[in-house]
Amino acid sequence: MGGSPPTPNLTPTGIGHYTEDDFKRALRTGDRPRGGGKLSEEMPWKFYGKMTDAELQSVWAFLKTVPPKQFGEQ
Ligand code: HEM
Repeated sequence: MGGSPPTPNLTPTGIGHYTEDDFKRALRTGDRPRGGGKLSEEMPWKFYGKMTDAELQSVWAFLKTVPPKQFGEQ
């Protein structure tokens, strides 16, 4: 409630413009790709950014299997 940004769409509809490197950088540094700005700390990137390369790669590989959905679509 209040000031928290909405959790984003992590299907290709939301982050289809990310490369794997963009994804790793966002989770490690909080920087969105291509000047998209800093992620809020509501997104626990400082914790997730501690994953190893192999772990982040696995999360990314999973996200690539998710079909595109609109926000809120089941
Ligand atoms: C492994 C789990 C997670 C992954 C891979 C992940 C990934 C991401 C990515 C890539 C973005 C940026 C999306 C964009 O550029 O539009 C993002 C944003 C965000 N995430 Fe996560 N996230 C995870 C877990 C969480 C959790 C547990 C929460 C909250 C409880 C959360 C809350 C948010 C919020 C609020 C934003 C938007 C931040 C903003 O607009 O500044 N995320 N997440």
